[in-house]
Amino acid sequence: MLTRTLPDALHDLFVAGPDAADYPRINDYFNHAYHRDPDAFMLQFELLREQHAAFHSPDAIAGYCCLKPFGYAGDFQLIDRLYTHYTGDGKHIARWDAFAQAQPAAVAVRNRKTYFMDLLTNGMPGRVLNVASGPARDVFEFYEKWPQAPITVDCLEYDAHAIAYAKSLLNGNERVLFRQQNILTWKAEGAYQLVWSSGLFDYFTDAVFVRVLRKLLSCVEPGGELVIGNFSDENPNRAFMEAGMQWYLHHRSPFQLTDLARQAGAADWTPVVRNEPAGVNLFLHLTKPV
Ligand SMILES: C[S@@+](CC[C@H](N)C(=O)[O-])C[C@H]1O[C@@H](n2cnc3c(N)ncnc32)[C@H](O)[C@@H]1O
Repeated sequence: MLTRTLPDALHDLFVAGPDAADYPRINDYFNHAYHRDPDAFMLQFELLREQHAAFHSPDAIAGYCCLKPFGYAGDFQLIDRLYTHYTGDGKHIARWDAFAQAQPAAVAVRNRKTYFMDLLTNGMPGRVLNVASGPARDVFEFYEKWPQAPITVDCLEYDAHAIAYAKSLLNGNERVLFRQQNILTWKAEGAYQLVWSSGLFDYFTDAVFVRVLRKLLSCVEPGGELVIGNFSDENPNRAFMEAGMQWYLHHRSPFQLTDLARQAGAADWTPVVRNEPAGVNLFLHLTKPV
């Protein structure tokens, strides 16, 4: 019988890397042990991390995330690895990467790319502000599909490496403009039909969430929409992300998101919370009254 607290019981599986049939056992291990005693589990897992390349190598999804080569978790390269179904070389890393890529959290990240592209396709908003644009693969794929779309996208991004990467992907697309800005210090300007931000607000405390949301509300034109992504407090991969990848987010419920919208002064912007098909990434939709 599996001893949930003892990594020894999973030793061979950790060394070889899991097969799809092993995924429930791996999730069971992470979820039960972590939820019972997060601090003890983190200590125990640090030993595993040293022993297994999947958790310390930059070539692996989890290892890369722990190493944070650009100084923060969830950088453009990690996100683009998720978007492009990356798996590293070698059986051990490839199997662990396949595990990471198959998890609802990774599926949710890929789904949010589609979610944004659908917002662009269905609404064809003329002017779009994309806050924390990262690799901008969503924007790239949208224009691949709709090269003549009458849309311009202003990408606001803090990390110069992310901007360089996104620019090379977009290959001089004149409809997309990049501004290297920190959203915390950026002086709000412009009137957009769609303001979008995913993978940013879940790094913010409630106080910062409200402050930045208030700033973005001022950039939406009447009748326009603001959509903010945030991981759900029901994320089934939280233990794997926190212990395995050292990737910490502020997970939130639909109620919390609408309450933060109210605190930011958007109570009359008809707050609605939707989600992508995996149910992990929530989206707070706010529509500016005309
Ligand atoms: C998890 S990625 C999300 C990228 C993209 N929105 C997506 O969903 O594919 C987060 C991005 O937010 C950027 N970022 C983090 N803090 C920021 C800030 N204060 N101002 C602007 N960008 C920021 C990071 O540089 C990174 O590229």
